[in-house]
Amino acid sequence: MTIDWSRLRADFPILDQKVHGQPLIYFDNAATSQKPRAMVEALRRYYEHDNANVHRGIHELSNRATAGFEAARARAARFINARSADEIIFTRGTTEGINLVASAWGAKNVRAGDRILLTEMEHHSNIVPWQLLAERTGAKLVYVPVTGDIGLLDVSRLDGCLTPDVRLFAMTHISNSLGTINPVADLCARARQRGITTLVDAAQSAGHRPIDVQEIGCDFLAFSGHKMCGPTGIGVLYGRQEVLEKMPPYQGGGEMILNVAFHQSTWKHAPHRFEAGTPDISGAVGLHAAMDYLDNIGRPNIAQHDQELGAYAYAALSRLKGGIRLFGPHIGRAGLVSFLLKDIHAHDVVTVADQRGVALRGGHHCNQPLMGKLGVESTARASFYFYNTTEEIDGFVEVLGEIQKFFGS
Ligand SMILES: Cc1ncc(COP(=O)(O)O)c(C=O)c1O
Repeated sequence: MTIDWSRLRADFPILDQKVHGQPLIYFDNAATSQKPRAMVEALRRYYEHDNANVHRGIHELSNRATAGFEAARARAARFINARSADEIIFTRGTTEGINLVASAWGAKNVRAGDRILLTEMEHHSNIVPWQLLAERTGAKLVYVPVTGDIGLLDVSRLDGCLTPDVRLFAMTHISNSLGTINPVADLCARARQRGITTLVDAAQSAGHRPIDVQEIGCDFLAFSGHKMCGPTGIGVLYGRQEVLEKMPPYQGGGEMILNVAFHQSTWKHAPHRFEAGTPDISGAVGLHAAMDYLDNIGRPNIAQHDQELGAYAYAALSRLKGGIRLFGPHIGRAGLVSFLLKDIHAHDVVTVADQRGVALRGGHHCNQPLMGKLGVESTARASFYFYNTTEEIDGFVEVLGEIQKFFGS
């Protein structure tokens, strides 16, 4: 199917504006994506027609709100090919999903002396919850190394890391600062052979490529709605049903109980056991619309376009004279590029680019340990989505050339 990608821009009113007098080039999609009209319209419709609390009422609006919320759960199950909607827990986002597993699964399954295996390219969201668990339990964190020069996971070291005391292996699908795409199905298979539980951080992948949790073979997978055309404040934690049923609650409160007495309570089955309190109902409805929108375009098409933009940008940046360091793999990368211009701080690049209407991100990208390994404190990052164009990349590279001239390098 041939897609006119630039026509899709009309679905995103925010893109049609000037910033500091220049047409906006939005290249901060790895932080959060922009929102299509269809998603915004779904939120408006929900609040104007159906708004009520879920699961509690027996009036029409509550029934409608509950139906919308549960339809979103079923849609999320189809979106990642889960076996059942009972495997879908709504969270605030990837960070909360990982914290939920570290807290609830960790309390039951991790003891002093156990190991949690991570990779050196994890986002802080997939490091700090495990550090907190390690502090509580006396467990230890171990990391699969990243090859410093090309930014790939050193899979030759994986088997050596999968020792009998490893309880869980948590890995990112796509690195938010390197653009590396990890072979998660293979990584999970190797862990599973040894009876190790697995978690995939799909924050950067869920809205960018097809995700099939059965094919990946993971026990948990977490993603955020706001990075894939959905609203902020809603995310999904997938958990394999057998694993979820054995997990204690995460937080206590309304919605998650069967029966409460003064001194003890009993819990609902998964996923409701993990959703205490009033959930983000409109967020789920908006996420439903976002998933429909993405699948109308087709995630295989989005993945291909992403990779084309990533490769185009990488090649164009490589041709920049005056000194540029590019991070991450040369080929097979996702649609983002991290870089440093010689002798110019990443924050200066981002600040001057902003004056030219180009929205980039500069900093450690919540990857401080990885930055340390790469020997830098920060990078500048351009991250793309399907509504971006090669013309925008040309404009961005031109701006970088001007920045080099401005700083005299
Ligand atoms: C790889 C990765 N994991 C986790 C997160 C955290 O996502 P959120 O802030 O939506 O919870 C991000 C956000 O940038 C990310 O890029």
